[in-house]
Amino acid sequence: MHIFHFQRSNDKEARFNTGNLEWCMVDLFEGGTETTTNTLRWALLYMINYPLIQEKVQEEIESVIGQTRFPTMADKASMPYTNAVLHEVQRKGDIVPLNMARVATKDTNLGRYLIQKGTIVIANLSSVLHDQTEWETPDTFNPEHFLDSEGHFRRRNAFIPFSTGKRMCPGEYLARVELFLLFTCLLQKFTFQPPPGEEPSLESQLGFTKVPMPYKLCASLR
Ligand code: HEM
Repeated sequence: MHIFHFQRSNDKEARFNTGNLEWCMVDLFEGGTETTTNTLRWALLYMINYPLIQEKVQEEIESVIGQTRFPTMADKASMPYTNAVLHEVQRKGDIVPLNMARVATKDTNLGRYLIQKGTIVIANLSSVLHDQTEWETPDTFNPEHFLDSEGHFRRRNAFIPFSTGKRMCPGEYLARVELFLLFTCLLQKFTFQPPPGEEPSLESQLGFTKVPMPYKLCASLR
């Protein structure tokens, strides 16, 4: 095995070294696994809570993709309802409610506030994702938030689960691909329901991300 060697930790001029590289890898694994997994857990939980919405997604999958091939990203443009459902899962799932803590690198004026260099800044993404002046029914799981009156997909400025600005999530595109392909593959092949006699709950707990409480579901082959 060849080990690529570029240990430059002692070089004060170097802006990048092996320690830095190791943390970048940790960031990518941490940032890229729990987030997408938990969004999918929310997606399936909403599907068992809202069977009619699940049915509409399956109808769209049936008419655009069918049962004989896998979904591809090219299908997304023809699937506004599924796209709207996934956006609403991310809005209502709100898995990174308080974003990541950042530090002001210089004195900064924001509106009428002065944020001094070194201040820790925590942006409240949750308040934007539930803003009463932006969303028609902020506290309800409602894919119509992302659809216009003709059923076309509608972007919303207050949709910022990946944050915004220079330091927003660099994994957004990968996450969107993963969410669309996994969600449509699952709903193409299975219908999800709560176990017989069990009332599904939408309760959550907050750790590194906001996750649903552990739940059980039944998957029936379609
Ligand atoms: C549904 C999935 C995801 C959500 C909701 C999400 C959300 C976020 C948010 C809110 C931030 C903080 C941005 C800020 O401070 O302004 C962030 C940062 C980050 N995300 Fe994601 N993320 C997701 C998936 C991913 C994936 C798939 C990857 C990589 C493979 C990733 C890698 C990162 C990294 C490395 C950062 C730190 C960026 C920096 O410090 O400049 N994320 N993410």
